[in-house]
Amino acid sequence: MTLPPVLQAQLRDLVAHEGNPRAAMLESLRLVQAAEGWVSDDRIPQIAAELGVTPAELDATASFYSLIFRRPVGRTVILLCDGASCGLNGADAIRDALMSRLGIGYGQTTPDGRFTLINSACVGGCDRAPAAVIGPDRTLVGPLTADTLNAVLEEAP
Ligand code: FES
Repeated sequence: MTLPPVLQAQLRDLVAHEGNPRAAMLESLRLVQAAEGWVSDDRIPQIAAELGVTPAELDATASFYSLIFRRPVGRTVILLCDGASCGLNGADAIRDALMSRLGIGYGQTTPDGRFTLINSACVGGCDRAPAAVIGPDRTLVGPLTADTLNAVLEEAP
């Protein structure tokens, strides 16, 4: 399946705005992910062609950033911080509770397609440790406790 025309146009606008195809690589991946939920292997050469970079260059960028999803993800992605501040504030217990409740490990999606759990370096909420970034709007949630965790999971689509 080829890139939808609206995405092709957005990518061309992005390159024109950035003035350099390489500077547009990460944002181009974000654009495609926002539209399709993830970035498939098939999309890499298509996006690269629109940008004017090689597929290998774009693939390297896509593989480097953990927030560019290379496999389908659930409706709600939970980026659970495994940074030092969170580790000192009980992140291990939150991780264990989350994995037990969802029945999945890192990098996995629940069978109903509702949640994907990913471990992440510092998510920028050390003052709210243990913290996570959750959902398509990337809401920073913390400090996570059994109660806040339950509330977040129940509110998720
Ligand atoms: S170490 Fe977890 S938010 Fe910074």
